[in-house]
Amino acid sequence: MIKLLSHLSYVAITSPDVEASVAFYVERVGLTVVDRIDGAVYLRCWGDYYAYSVVVLPGDEPSLDTMAWRTSSLEALDKAVQRIESAGVQGEWVDVHTIGRAYRFTGPWGHSMTLHWDVTRHQAQGHTASIYPDRPEKRSTVAGAPRQLDHVTIAASDVDAFAAWYNEVLGFRIMARTLLDEAPISVFSVLTTNEKSHDLGVVLDGSSRAGRVNHYAFWVDTREELLIAADTLMEHGIPIEYGPSIHGIGEQNFLYYREPSSLRIELNTGGYRNYVPDWEPNTWKPSLGSNNFYRNGAMPMSMTESFPAADGPSATEEGVPDEIREALLNPYAKHGQG
Ligand SMILES: [Fe+2]
Repeated sequence: MIKLLSHLSYVAITSPDVEASVAFYVERVGLTVVDRIDGAVYLRCWGDYYAYSVVVLPGDEPSLDTMAWRTSSLEALDKAVQRIESAGVQGEWVDVHTIGRAYRFTGPWGHSMTLHWDVTRHQAQGHTASIYPDRPEKRSTVAGAPRQLDHVTIAASDVDAFAAWYNEVLGFRIMARTLLDEAPISVFSVLTTNEKSHDLGVVLDGSSRAGRVNHYAFWVDTREELLIAADTLMEHGIPIEYGPSIHGIGEQNFLYYREPSSLRIELNTGGYRNYVPDWEPNTWKPSLGSNNFYRNGAMPMSMTESFPAADGPSATEEGVPDEIREALLNPYAKHGQG
């Protein structure tokens, strides 16, 4: 298979209060509004190469409207569409703001994905123009403002099957997965289209609601910036849900917090680069530090919440069955330091 996808280009999310979300992204995260069209607000990080990386849409609940990947070429876009349709999924061609022709489909677990080759590159003018040729814009003056969009982590009812479908159909490399210590239940997996540890994550969803998202993430250049962002969030009364710490899988520094819609966002930095084309994914256990490299901190229960809220009768309100949640939340109690 030729390389089909190159990187995550934008996410579109919904918020019950678009203006509250947008104000938060501008003031607290450090994004810039670039367009407002028919209720949709388009925002960018200072280092995003294209026109925007986040679209906030009005909606009754926080959710992921679509996640967009740029293909590796025009030919790759057509090939990707052929492969999606050969796999029995029918999408449609859509016209996306500043992008143009794009193919949008809903994957087997209910997640909308938009694939495109065409883009509009961002080149700031006037006082926002960078003095450096490679920078699309000056560095933000907001403390800890991310350079660019990094990844998205969705929720699906079968983690391994989700990973296998996106691997087989679109060529995502599967980089790692987590099985519970207590039982061979796959609760997390990471996939990538490039040398990053992941640009697509999947967590187990025990609810019956398809197409949910757990969080999406921005990239900051250094751990120092991530810590400054954490400090600034605390000073402005924004609770930090989890972190700052380091994931075992991917070895990224992380920090999770919520935007006003309650949707979880993450700041990420560091970690390794993996260029191995035939990488065989390793299997982690929570007790090995898959989530917490130092194996010394329990994940807050709230982290199992995905969006929109679950509605399944067999699930807890967060959509994760109790036994799985307990095993995820405190893996070190039973298993010590691994
Ligand atoms: Fe993440």
